[in-house]
Amino acid sequence: MTKPKVFVIIYTTYHHMAERVKAGLEKAGVEATIYQVAETLPADVLAKMGAPPKPNVPVITAADLEKADGFVFGFPTRYGMIPAQFKAFWDSTGQLWAKGALVGKMAATFTSTATLGGGQETTHLTFISQLVHHGIVYVPLGYTNQQMFNIEEVHGGSPYGAGCIAGGDGSRQPSELELSVAEHQGSHFGKTISQYKK
Ligand SMILES: Cc1cc2nc3c(=O)[nH]c(=O)nc-3n(C[C@H](O)[C@H](O)[C@H](O)COP(=O)(O)O)c2cc1C
Repeated sequence: MTKPKVFVIIYTTYHHMAERVKAGLEKAGVEATIYQVAETLPADVLAKMGAPPKPNVPVITAADLEKADGFVFGFPTRYGMIPAQFKAFWDSTGQLWAKGALVGKMAATFTSTATLGGGQETTHLTFISQLVHHGIVYVPLGYTNQQMFNIEEVHGGSPYGAGCIAGGDGSRQPSELELSVAEHQGSHFGKTISQYKK
């Protein structure tokens, strides 16, 4: 069996959980590549937000989606939903939808919010609509990692997917607990898609 091919597709302003998701996928024997969706905000708005340069990964096009067996999507929340940049990307996939090109592929999601209760679950949940319309199989994280039960320290994440708490100005870096769950999610998804492909 050829290795399943998974694209980790992100939009991010300040944070870097994608590398650990990729590490988890690779541990599970999956070929993983990180992409980002195109920015839609003007440069002067990004400067006012204090946004650092974009991650050094290729920008995905809708046509690229056909090349993968599955996807792990990573996005911050914007008012409890995915950022407009991510929605703009999905709104460019109409041709794929028309021919059912993504039917049966698999996907998982991870996210970040400024605060606890800032909308991690609503961000995952409202994103699932994109997957449903394309016939993509959603793979939740479930409670598959003991660290999800940790109430000794503040952390993001939920049974929908890994998550981090970014702080009010976005400056908090993910903790090792959050990153370990992100890596676990990569492995969990990698194992699931490998079984499915077999
Ligand atoms: C327009 C806008 C809306 C936001 N809405 C929320 C929100 O509803 N809840 C929340 O906790 N954080 C919110 N945030 C904070 C971001 O989610 C946070 O900075 C982000 O998770 C950082 O991740 P990133 O560096 O990967 O973009 C918002 C930020 C912006 C710019």
